[in-house]
Amino acid sequence: MLSKLFGFLRGKGVLVQGVDKLPEGQARILSLGDPLAGGKQIVLCRLEGKLYAVDRICPHEGGRINEGPLVDGKYYVCPLHSYKFDPKTGESIDIGCKAAKTYKVEAKGKDCEIFV
Ligand code: FES
Repeated sequence: MLSKLFGFLRGKGVLVQGVDKLPEGQARILSLGDPLAGGKQIVLCRLEGKLYAVDRICPHEGGRINEGPLVDGKYYVCPLHSYKFDPKTGESIDIGCKAAKTYKVEAKGKDCEIFV
């Protein structure tokens, strides 16, 4: 009962398989669910051995955060105005901008669970 309550508070967990193949300093786009029915696009990266996830929609003006190598080995980038975001916090690095929405990620062996 209590675990159901905590599960509700932290969001619904979505299992993503094979994330052990995501190299250090790389980011991949994941489509979770149908975009026409409330699905999301999330960018998952590995930084310093840990997995981090942010919403792909940029908080600046709605651009789409890139996949691929993290800029300077540690930042997501939105190509529309080249703003950089810290994967750990979602905070914008060089310009005052709202933080990107982050999601809790739990590694589970070769897979992970993202709480959306
Ligand atoms: S819309 Fe992403 S940096 Fe401007």
